Amino acid sequence: MKDQASISTAPNLDAGLDFLARLVSARVAETEGRDPGELPLPQLFDDGTPLAALCQQHGVGFDTFTVLMLALAPHLRPQLLSDAFAAAIARPGDFPQMGGRRHAESRAMLPTGETAAFLLAGDDIAARADLHRLFEPDHWLAAEDLVSLEEPAPGAPRLSGTLELSGSAFDRLVLGRSAAPRFSARFPARRVTTRLGWEDLVLADPTRAGLDALDRWLRHRAALDGAAAAGRHLRPGFRALFHGPPGTGKTLSAGLLGQKAGLEVYRVDLSLVVSKYIGETEKNLGTLFATARARDWVLFFDEADALFGKRTAVTDAHDRYANQEVSYLLSRVEDYDGLVILCSNLRSNIDDAFLGRFDAIVAFTPPGVSERAAIWAGALPDVPAPADPAAFSAAMARFELSGRAIVGAVRHATARALDASRATLTYTDAAAGVAHELEKEGRIFRNLVEPEIAAETAD
Ligand SMILES: Nc1ncnc2c1ncn2[C@@H]1O[C@H](COP(=O)(O)OP(=O)(O)OP(=O)(O)O)[C@@H](O)[C@H]1O
Ligand SMILES: [Mg+2]
Repeated sequence: MKDQASISTAPNLDAGLDFLARLVSARVAETEGRDPGELPLPQLFDDGTPLAALCQQHGVGFDTFTVLMLALAPHLRPQLLSDAFAAAIARPGDFPQMGGRRHAESRAMLPTGETAAFLLAGDDIAARADLHRLFEPDHWLAAEDLVSLEEPAPGAPRLSGTLELSGSAFDRLVLGRSAAPRFSARFPARRVTTRLGWEDLVLADPTRAGLDALDRWLRHRAALDGAAAAGRHLRPGFRALFHGPPGTGKTLSAGLLGQKAGLEVYRVDLSLVVSKYIGETEKNLGTLFATARARDWVLFFDEADALFGKRTAVTDAHDRYANQEVSYLLSRVEDYDGLVILCSNLRSNIDDAFLGRFDAIVAFTPPGVSERAAIWAGALPDVPAPADPAAFSAAMARFELSGRAIVGAVRHATARALDASRATLTYTDAAAGVAHELEKEGRIFRNLVEPEIAAETAD
């Protein structure tokens, strides 16, 4: 993704905060005359900064602009709010209900929903009702993960929560960066990256054909969505199921598909998704899907069984709740208009009722002998290298290992050769690597390269 840090974001932010300062003093000085038109929005520099782009994209108005600036103020001009609150408190008589809260640790003054209401609505009930709409999850302020209103404490008024700028909004508007939010329980997704390329992926033909279908969809999706007849029949997006044993290249394939299409791939951590706080899970997932949609991510779920698996009988309240979360997640997956890849180790774990809802089902099989030879050949280091890499890979392919286990065996073997300061990787090294991997899986090592080891030690 492009880094826009070379353009200074400061002039537009300055203009925006000047506007906020003028609005605040106008409101503090007199509580009447709340016509929003009385104070013109600043003319932003049309300089390609994220703030200018955002305002243009959404046709930002008086209310949304004020909310954005309020959320930015504690980060950029902290004194703006503390001065305003001080001035308000000093006013005799009619004390304006400015809301606001002092942050316990930093002592900074933070705006609350009430502060926004003070600036935008006063005691105009209709205007206050309008204001609530700005904080609904489907408003672009939330959908684009910019500003949110903190959940109020139990029993407290709706607008008493703090107005928060998200971390990604700070990165975007202030740093001019399009960084993704940091991984956390509130944003339970991590980027899948790989240093490998499409040519490193070794697959049986049917698996590769399955991936080609996904790749074709990614390349032609715009045309497919537009194609008159097909477009009306097709749901938006594409949902694929990858199933197969561990270490056979499912995650790698997802990463490479994204890489080929120039899209980022994010793996959602389902174990973090289900929150014990009612409502939190849906909020977090809402943010995640909105961010994914705005950035056109490929979404990857590792434990699809938890989602599409055979439903167990509801036994207690916790399960019932979990099922409710799962239904929510399922509906987001169904509505997503990009590529979603769901993974499972066993196809038979997936409820038959769901199998038909996938647009593609790709089976990853344990690599056969020729695939194993190719994975060995691709994984071998340049130094220490085996004497005859082709023969070496062919011989090592006799062991029935997954792609991941082969990579692990090579690493173990390489460390062994380096430890002995040898520039040659021997069959003994590789056999030790294989034994190490088999042991991890609780399998018995049978030496299938004994003749090669014997020949090597005879040299
Ligand atoms: N088919 C393959 N071709 C080339 N390398 C492979 C292949 N399968 C696995 N590997 C190697 O093993 C590593 C791990 O594979 P990957 O993470 O894709 O497995 P997975 O199928 O997602 O496993 P799991 O079910 O445990 O998540 C890859 O990064 C790659 O180095
Ligand atoms: Mg995986």
